[in-house]
Amino acid sequence: MNPAAAHQPIGIFDSGIGGLTVAHAVAKALPQEQLIYFGDTAHLPYGDKSADAIRFYCLKIAKFLLDRGCKMIVVACNSASSAGYEVLLEFFREQALFVNVVDPLVEAASRLGLDRVGVIGTKATIHSRVYQSRLAHARPEMEVGALATPLLAPMIEEGFVHNRISKVVLDTYLSDPVLRNIEGLLLACTHYPLIKADIRQWFRHPVHILDSTDVVVDIVRQKLEQRALLSDHSPSEAHRFYVSDYTEAFEKATKLFYGARVHLEEVPIW
Ligand code: DGL
Repeated sequence: MNPAAAHQPIGIFDSGIGGLTVAHAVAKALPQEQLIYFGDTAHLPYGDKSADAIRFYCLKIAKFLLDRGCKMIVVACNSASSAGYEVLLEFFREQALFVNVVDPLVEAASRLGLDRVGVIGTKATIHSRVYQSRLAHARPEMEVGALATPLLAPMIEEGFVHNRISKVVLDTYLSDPVLRNIEGLLLACTHYPLIKADIRQWFRHPVHILDSTDVVVDIVRQKLEQRALLSDHSPSEAHRFYVSDYTEAFEKATKLFYGARVHLEEVPIW
């Protein structure tokens, strides 16, 4: 990697605003870092896109963040991490540090030493089989039941959380035989931390529920520390939140994911 400086920002991107759950966790744990967030709202949802399309979006967004001097790029989207992470490394590993959301979750799950886990995420994430193969590699004896749950992300974005509708949708997905007798469940979508409590409540027996916000921050800190790139004083500039297509509804929904409403700036990169 080319020389970077600790004061440079951390770039974080997602297909939309779901990755704000990760941005919020990073901002809270590392308040001395400046964040530049990019939500590709023009192409949302990534979960229904082909791997080739997602790879193309990832490259363009990474370029946008690198042009703004990011020392690290966090791919805060499981669909993008599954389809696009390798290609990002191939093109840009010399220019910044990269973090995805898949590897930290896989590591956390294998550390728990469970015999049977479930994974839920978008179609792009589950059909890529990235989780299934990384988990098999990390802990070959572990059984993995993976289920695409495409209704969850739009449901959460519309604020259907902890209500009658979300209960029925969750009940339908979590009752799927693929998830029977699991001891742990990986929430392989950055929208899902918002329904973690509802998911936990659904299970009648104790199940370890793992989401990316819990584990990504540690990897971000670790990687920056290793390169002496952790910022040690408050950022001179405020965090920036960019989207590729602005609507008031997106801006309003940022409150759900970031805990506070943030100002979105449109940058038409397409
Ligand atoms: N937040 C995205 C993820 O983690 C899902 C939303 C989408 O389909 O774009 O996969």
